[in-house]
Amino acid sequence: DLRIGTAVAGGGHHVDQPYPDPFPNDRPYRRVLAKEFNSVSPENQMKWEFIHPERTKYNFGPADAIVRFARANGQVVRGHTLLWHSQNPTWLSEGTFTKAELRQILKSHIFTVVGRYRGQIQQWDVANEIFNENGEYRQENIWIRELGPGIVADAFRWAHQADPRAQLFLNDYGVEWPGVKVDAYETLAKQLLAARVPLHGFASQAHLSMRYGAPDQLAGVLQRFDDLGLKTAITELDVRMDLPEGGVPTAEQLATQASYYKTVLDACLAVDDCNSFTIWGFTDKYSWVPVFFPAEGAATVMWDDFTKKPAYYTLRDTL
Ligand code: XIL
Repeated sequence: DLRIGTAVAGGGHHVDQPYPDPFPNDRPYRRVLAKEFNSVSPENQMKWEFIHPERTKYNFGPADAIVRFARANGQVVRGHTLLWHSQNPTWLSEGTFTKAELRQILKSHIFTVVGRYRGQIQQWDVANEIFNENGEYRQENIWIRELGPGIVADAFRWAHQADPRAQLFLNDYGVEWPGVKVDAYETLAKQLLAARVPLHGFASQAHLSMRYGAPDQLAGVLQRFDDLGLKTAITELDVRMDLPEGGVPTAEQLATQASYYKTVLDACLAVDDCNSFTIWGFTDKYSWVPVFFPAEGAATVMWDDFTKKPAYYTLRDTL
């Protein structure tokens, strides 16, 4: 029952790039998207700044198009994301609101967005990246800063009311190895479960760089959450590398990349309730990596022209 997913490109880093289309109108892209995956995640199209650009205006077009595409192709959708410090609209991040107003803004956003796609989203990343590397709540997160960490539980409760069938997740990066950040999530998960908050899963984004070594302890981390009765997922896997002069990776780099991808898939396969494995885009053509990590790239499983890298074949042969 393992779902194999990808992010669907559009918006985000693409805004300043030559392809502003919120869901690339690119036939080979869409063909591969339909054929190779049975789960899709909007890369940006359900984030606050896209779906809720003004206080009284929602922009559902791009997200609707992805949900429609998924339905037409027998795919499930992972919703991303509801409570995050980043990619919030200016009206929100620079507005002045009372605490009561902010709480109402979040509640009504969650009911509106989750409610719109009720029954059509398999998993929602309700809370995204809420902890710093040191295990403390991120104070850049407007909701946590202004309303306190208890708002996380409320967000889960509201999302559950809006779509009782959606599986609700905590999602973060930097949780691929054990450490204080993972400990913080484990403590939070236990607290939420003890308080009967509808938390269903814990997800590792798995944005990896070959600079930092293979994620060889990931299965153990996922198992800790599985042991709490939670589902686990890999939600944003990519494996970036330092590009040699000329920009073309060596065969050795590609082999190492393939082995990282395999390590992550093996970790998910080793854990009972890890049933969603998503890569953050399948082609370098639309990858966010070169925009965000200067000098690194080639992070996905296909080249710009959709030909396949060793990582693609390794994943396929592991499944
Ligand atoms: C990234 C997108 O890929 C970019 O297009 C956008 O400009 C910035 O965000 N963690 C997340 C994702 O949860 O939403 C981020 O996606 C990557 C890191």
